[in-house]
Amino acid sequence: MDKDPEAIADAAKKFTGDVRVAWRRGSFATLSEWDAVTKGLDGVLFDLGVSSPQLDVAGRGFSFMQDGPLDMRMDPETGESAAEWLARADEQEIASVLWQYGEERMSRRIARAVVARRGDEPLMRTGELAELIASVIGRREPGKHPATRSFQAIRIHINGELDDLTTGLQAAHDALTPGGRLAVISFHSLEDRMVKRFISERSRPPAGNRRLPQMDDFRPSLIEVGKARRGEPKEVADNPRARSAVLRVAERCA
Ligand SMILES: C[S@@+](CC[C@H](N)C(=O)[O-])C[C@H]1O[C@@H](n2cnc3c(N)ncnc32)[C@H](O)[C@@H]1O
Repeated sequence: MDKDPEAIADAAKKFTGDVRVAWRRGSFATLSEWDAVTKGLDGVLFDLGVSSPQLDVAGRGFSFMQDGPLDMRMDPETGESAAEWLARADEQEIASVLWQYGEERMSRRIARAVVARRGDEPLMRTGELAELIASVIGRREPGKHPATRSFQAIRIHINGELDDLTTGLQAAHDALTPGGRLAVISFHSLEDRMVKRFISERSRPPAGNRRLPQMDDFRPSLIEVGKARRGEPKEVADNPRARSAVLRVAERCA
């Protein structure tokens, strides 16, 4: 499954004729609606976040390194582009997205600058937004473009990535057959925290509280398989985009 029509076209090119493979354009959040899933699944792998083609093609509007239309939608035919959202959202909403999804300390200042700027002319290009952010916060983190956190936050918001993950994890859990495995590769600490909590809430009883009755009837539906894994140094050296990847795995109980 992928929201991105180009990723789906690529899959069709690679796998047409291979009876083992089925593909579907759509959000992970619609996993349970896919006929291929209703029989139950032996395994689910979520490979979250953005793809290299999305980052590398300037016309997709994800990159602060290359100028392009300010879009950032994984599915360019659905929802609002980043330019449309930045043109209509109020200052408080923009600041809150930058803070929550990008942990951007200067979120308020950047939001104020966006709102001031769009009063003169709309922000339509990734280059314009990257420059505006750089002018507000300067070079703060060495080796990191000043717009990195803001672009990541806007992308997560525009694509509803965390809501999709919440729904997708539950759908995957429900579709797994006993012994089936759920594996999730995430690239952002917020995503990883959600996956960690999802697995732990289903594999361990809630911590006891002396003042409350004990919950004796907790039945796990998942077993955690190993600990969170990061890329080996060699893998990260070969593919620097893997540096923030975290893999977690759990097995569905009978
Ligand atoms: C890290 S890439 C992995 C791509 C693929 N596994 C590969 O190796 O070529 C993440 C992909 O997930 C897609 N994606 C991210 N969130 C999604 C969601 N909620 N629903 C569907 N696709 C999503 C993106 O469009 C992107 O193509």
